[in-house]
Formats: sequence, structure tokens, C-alpha cells
Amino acid sequence: MSHFGSYEDRVKDFDWSIAEKELEYNDGDVINIGWYCTDRICQMGKGEKTALLWEGFGGTEKKFTFNDIRIASNTIGSFLRELGVKNEDRVCLFMDRIPELYLGFLGVLKIGAVAQPLFSAFGDESLFVRLDNAQTTAIITTRKHVSKVRKIVEKMPYLKHIIIVDYDGKKPLRDREVAFSLEEATPVEEFECFPTTAESPSVLHYTSGTTGQPKGVKHVHYSLISQYLTAKWVLDLHDDDIYWCTADPGWVTGTSYGIIGVWSLGVTQCVLDSGFSADAWYKFIDKHRVTVWYSAPTAIRSLMKAGAEIVKNNDLSSLRHLASVGEPLNAEAVVWSQEVLGKPFHDTYWQTETGSMMLVNFPGMKVKPGSMGRPFPGITAVVLDPESLEPIKEPGRPGLIGFKPGWPAMMRTYWNNEETYKSKFANGWYLPGDRSSIDTDGYFWFTGRDDDVINTGGHLVSPFEVESALLEHEAVAESAVVAKPDEVNMEVVKAFVTLKPGVEATPELELKIMNFIRKKLSSIAMPQEIEYMAQLPKTRSGKIMRRVLQAKEWGEEIGDTSTLEDDE
Ligand code: WTA
Repeated sequence: MSHFGSYEDRVKDFDWSIAEKELEYNDGDVINIGWYCTDRICQMGKGEKTALLWEGFGGTEKKFTFNDIRIASNTIGSFLRELGVKNEDRVCLFMDRIPELYLGFLGVLKIGAVAQPLFSAFGDESLFVRLDNAQTTAIITTRKHVSKVRKIVEKMPYLKHIIIVDYDGKKPLRDREVAFSLEEATPVEEFECFPTTAESPSVLHYTSGTTGQPKGVKHVHYSLISQYLTAKWVLDLHDDDIYWCTADPGWVTGTSYGIIGVWSLGVTQCVLDSGFSADAWYKFIDKHRVTVWYSAPTAIRSLMKAGAEIVKNNDLSSLRHLASVGEPLNAEAVVWSQEVLGKPFHDTYWQTETGSMMLVNFPGMKVKPGSMGRPFPGITAVVLDPESLEPIKEPGRPGLIGFKPGWPAMMRTYWNNEETYKSKFANGWYLPGDRSSIDTDGYFWFTGRDDDVINTGGHLVSPFEVESALLEHEAVAESAVVAKPDEVNMEVVKAFVTLKPGVEATPELELKIMNFIRKKLSSIAMPQEIEYMAQLPKTRSGKIMRRVLQAKEWGEEIGDTSTLEDDE
């Protein structure tokens, strides 16, 4: 029996106090996510229950109980405290999906500091802009990634501590670097968490916009209320579940549902610290008897490509509930999973800024393949006419998605960028920047983004960031970066460049430019292709028209170019 029951019943008398009651939280109380995910679960008598089943590259395994993760997060928290890291200081976590990432995240929260997880594939330039914006005090990393920090350390006087969690003593530590080993540190049994309250900052996730530098989305400890209840009802997590969230905690899904939702419910999760391979993924599900699986459309499309035959080599009968997020989940993928895995993927829509799921397909609710589902109870969602910003009444007509502000996990601001934060609201609605229509049954159907951000395999890439990196190359005069269609990733990055006078447009140069920007950005932001142009299409005042280039890639009509030539 799912936790959810009927949609109508749940929506009728919904109040977020349902979650507050279950979490025994009263208005004004101390609320610390680190404590809720560990100490509270132990106090409930589940200390010996497995919290984390971890499998590394090459098959190494580690297992942690809730008591283990309680003590480990205490130990990391007290190490940070001894270094002098204080509440509200930003602490970056820059690691592959190793246990220290998950346990460090909780340790940071326990001392009231702000956890700033960053995807470990980021190059030094991407890392720098995010640390600089947050004026980060400390970074927790590994030998594999510390060289990127070293490259930029001189530009970061505010960064006081570089903590290396797998230091092997082979090479001397440098200025500001310090070693910490979870295995060798004295376990801290008793620990006083910082008494954070509802509005204390908790997590800072960076997300890409069309213009300007990436934005730091500021969340608070009260977000737990939404994350707990959505994880329980939408992911349908029960006490005996084995849950697998394939997202990296460098992105919001990996923290909201890969740490906070699951562990605040006291549920066991497994983590696979290696890249995608259909065979390895199926084996992982089989081996750990995964029951609830939260993944992403690109992964599902890659599994589809790998074929139904390899599914049969494994026993996937443990799977009870499947959900997806991050990009449009095409109807074929839902139909495929129903046929091959015997269960449909349930699409969920939300974003870094919303902190928790907004539009969802609940277990037990009729799944319409291709639809994002319906608003989570307590969420008022509409589509707005782009001109009047009034809700569209007729079913089927697309408009801008709008949410009524005020759910617990809503971002509180963009770090150091209140102006952009304010620009996301209009006419009393929060505008996530996506378009959708609503059908007669109240189901939402995604129709596209409302900006130039590229969603490649579920990762948002800012054209601006890639363009800036390209412009740093000595041969590049101008650049424009757009999305190009792709079978598996839906969109991939494509760059157009004009070269400086006298520079010859050769394939060798393309390779050189690629290598140059690879070091600065991350693998996901890398263009699949660089096309040379004699000149880029521009507005009269010289603004590059990405839309014209993008329309060409998608074989679309460019439309009325007289408006395109006007400045927006
Ligand atoms: C897109 C990830 C269609 C959307 C949790 C959104 C989706 C952005 C869906 C957020 C979905 C997410 N269908 N599009 N089910 N889910 N998106 O911030 O454009 O990395 O605004 O958060 O991904 O991406 P973000």
C-alpha cells in the first residue's frame, strides 16, 4: 500500500504541518537537517539499521549504519569546528561520490555552516567563480581534485582551509592544506549541533542562467519539511526499502533526495560511485535488491539503447517504484519501462530553486506517459499567459509555469544577487522559467524552457559560461553557444565561433580550442562541435542572436526576423 492514497483526498485538507507533526517540529524550534538525518533516527531506535551501502569504482564496498553516519558526521563537524569554521561560513564539498561527501555534507550542516556541494568534474574556472561568489571559507576535497584548487588558491584569500580526506603523506601538504581521515580520526560520540532554526541557511547549490555568472541558490533548514514529505509520498519510501538515487550530490537531486529526504525518513540507500553503464547499473539493482529507484531521462534513454536483452541477465524483480527527474521524460521511455521493467517511470518536475518536487506523478495515480503529472498537495501551480501574466483558463494552451510562493523548500534568495532573485517573481507568481500546458484532468505537459539555458542529459549549462571560456582562447574573436538535438541527451552543447583576423579555421584548431576549454569547464559543458563562421547573426545593436543559430540546428523556421533584429 502506498503512503499516498488518493490525490483528491490528499489535496483536500493538505497542510505542511502534516510533516511538522511527523518530525515533531513546532514553530520556532531548533531544526537542523544534520541532526534529523542521523541523531533523530538513532533516537527512534534505528541506530543499527543500514543507512548507506556504498560501492566504489572497481567494486569496493562500504557499509554504514545510522549510528555510524551519526558519529562520522559528528567527527567531521567537530574537526571543522576545531579549525575555526563557524556557523554560516560556506564549506564546499568537492569530491566524487565517496562516503565523505555524504557524511561531510551532514557534518557541515551540524555545525550550522552552509554546505556548498560542487560537481567534482568542474574545472578550475568553474570552481573559482562559484567559490568566489560564495566567499567560501573551507573546501573538503581529495587528492584527485586538489590540483584544481591549487591552481586558483592565490586568487582566493578568503579560502582558509583545504581539507584533503584521503591524504597519503607522499607529497608535502601546501599552504592552507590539512589532512583529515575519517578512518583514523577519533570518533566523536557526543556532539552539540549548532542550534539552527527554520530560516538558518543550509545548502548553497549553484545553477546556470542564460546571462551572467552561475547563481547560488540559498536554501534553509526548514526545507526539510518539504523534502521529507515529498520523499515519503512521491518516492513512496517505506521502512524496509532499499533506495537508489542516481544523482550526484553536486546537484540538487543528489542532496534533496540523495541525502535529506531518504535519511530523514530513516531509509536505507545505496550509492554507486562510478559512471553510467547499463550492465553495471542492472547488476547493482540486482545485487542490492533495490526497491525504489530515482533516476533521470538520459539514463533511461541510455538503458533503452542498451536493449532489453541485457535486462534479462539480471533479476530486477525487487524494483517496486520508479521515478525520474531533470528533463522531459518522453512517453516512449515510460512505455519502455512498463514493458521491460514491468513498472512505469513516474515523472517529477522541480528545480534547484524549488528545493523539492513540484509537479509529480504519485504512486497509484494514473500515469499519462509524457506528462509531468500534477502539483504536489500544498503547491498552487498555473500556466500564465506570457503577455498578461494571468492564469490561462483553457486546457491545452501552453504558457509560463507559475507557482504561488511559500512552500517550505523554496529558495530564499540567490547568494549576493537579490536583484536576479526578485526578477523571478511577477504578478504574485514565482516563475521557474519553463513552459507547459495543462490538460482537462489537471496534468501538466512540458513544452520547453523560457530561456537559452541548455539542458544536456539533465544538467543545466549556461551558454554564457561556455562562451566566456571560448573567448579566452587567443584565436577566438566571438562565440555563440546553443543547444543541438541529440538522441540520448536530448540536447548537447554546440558552439559557433568567429576567429581573429589571419587565423586559419582548421580541424586542429578546433581540437586545440576544445582542450583549452575542457580544463576550465566540466565534461558536461563541453561542446560536441565547434562550427566556424565568418560572422555571427546579430541584432542592430550587436547582440548575438542565439535563437537564429539554434533554430537552424533544430531544423525550425526562424520566424519573424524583424522582431529578432530588434533588441529585446
Ligand atoms: C528541467 C533538477 C521537463 C526544467 C531537479 C527545470 C524538467 C530544470 C523536468 C531544473 C521534468 C526538471 N520535465 N523538464 N520532469 N525536471 N526539468 O535546477 O527546465 O538542475 O527548470 O534541477 O530542469 O534543473 P535543475
